[in-house]
Amino acid sequence: MIAPSILSADFARLADELGAIRGSDWVHVDVMDAHFVPNLTLGLPVVEALLKVTDIPVDCHLMIEDPERWAPGYAEAGAHNVTIHVEAATDPVKVARDIRAAGAKAGLSIKPGTALEPHIELLKEFDTLLIMSVEPGFGGQRFIADVLPKVATIRDLVDTGHLDLLVEIDGGINADTIEQAAEAGVDCFVAGSAVYGADDPARAVEALRAQAAG
Ligand code: DX5
Ligand code: ZN
Repeated sequence: MIAPSILSADFARLADELGAIRGSDWVHVDVMDAHFVPNLTLGLPVVEALLKVTDIPVDCHLMIEDPERWAPGYAEAGAHNVTIHVEAATDPVKVARDIRAAGAKAGLSIKPGTALEPHIELLKEFDTLLIMSVEPGFGGQRFIADVLPKVATIRDLVDTGHLDLLVEIDGGINADTIEQAAEAGVDCFVAGSAVYGADDPARAVEALRAQAAG
């Protein structure tokens, strides 16, 4: 699966930019609060507006403090997947249950420097694990290959039936990096600059999907 990130799109023409990625599996929406990460993007009113103009399932990546307070609203609005950061949550299990009760899939994200092992038990409550392959905050950064062992660990736990999760990766995914991520076992690839920086974003999505499939 390919999930273009609208962080690299033209924010003045978001409806058109969604049209430009027709055929994508998800559209990835980066919500940043200038506290959890040093950048500020958009919030619930913009997500609600996007949901009205697209049929592509919306994948909300909440890089915000206090996800307990804000995450359920994105699920209620109709997002397909709502992902919170383990580093920001005080009660991730409660948030996951609230997201699911509001009708969305629940995702947990971990930053590149965050170890996976202490959080594996939590993952029973989640539908998606979003492994960050850059420091969250900005598009267009370089892929951190050191996170791939985390992908391999979680792939193994899923393939052996210990967990039922979709494995998503976010940051620095492009034609040069997607194959190594696919080999490590990623199911869903977020790509911002590699899609919206291309002359034809829909074709870039197709090319990435073909590369990931090997
Ligand atoms: C970064 C965001 C990413 C970003 C990825 O904090 O979470 O989703 O849009 O952008 P690229 O694909 O350019 O690294
Ligand atoms: Zn993201």
